Amino acid sequence: MKNIVILISGRGSNMQAIVRAAEAERWPCRIAAVISNRADAEGLAYAAARGIPTAVVPSKAYSSRDDFDAALRQEIDGFQPDLVVLAGFMRILTPPFVEHYSGRMLNIHPSLLPSFPGLATHRQALAAGVKVHGATVHFVTAELDHGPVVAQAAVPVLPGDSEESLAERVLAEEHRIYPLAVRWFVERRLRIDQGVVHIDHPAAPLPETERNR
Ligand code: GRF
Repeated sequence: MKNIVILISGRGSNMQAIVRAAEAERWPCRIAAVISNRADAEGLAYAAARGIPTAVVPSKAYSSRDDFDAALRQEIDGFQPDLVVLAGFMRILTPPFVEHYSGRMLNIHPSLLPSFPGLATHRQALAAGVKVHGATVHFVTAELDHGPVVAQAAVPVLPGDSEESLAERVLAEEHRIYPLAVRWFVERRLRIDQGVVHIDHPAAPLPETERNR
């Protein structure tokens, strides 16, 4: 049984999509905790209502990135995670933190990486005039919004789109591909070879011992 810790900073709709899918599809995993760097993150209430342990490590309380990352790491590791899922977690993480979770930390980014890393991706896409946009789930590496790609989904950019309408179309796809990617990880189907993720198919059945752990 794998332990998953999900980090959020706000609404947490991706976290909710993962929690719902894990429950509905009976993944062999436990959502061990939802942790936020903001006490007012709306997603915390949803997690608590589902009986998932929640914690807050307030980024504002730490004067340096290193100190915050150290405190966050301690909180996360208390839940013995096999996988850390960044779901709208709006913090840039230090290289030692990223290294500690190497190969076991996923992020979702609202663009078709490597296009439009960073913030305001929908604005960037509209300004560039691209005709397709989308979302990417990737393993986290020290370079922001880079790292081996696990899953992507594309949406059309339509005439008259605003940042909001485009964000809404992309978010619907995020809610589809993020649970899928996490499920693949839980099912041990992901292999990274020279920076490229290979997805084993079909899923190898989990050994009985692993199912019951
Ligand atoms: C998502 O679009 C995610 O890709 C981005 O921030 C948004 C978070 O939404 N990084 P939510 O908190 O999961 O609802």
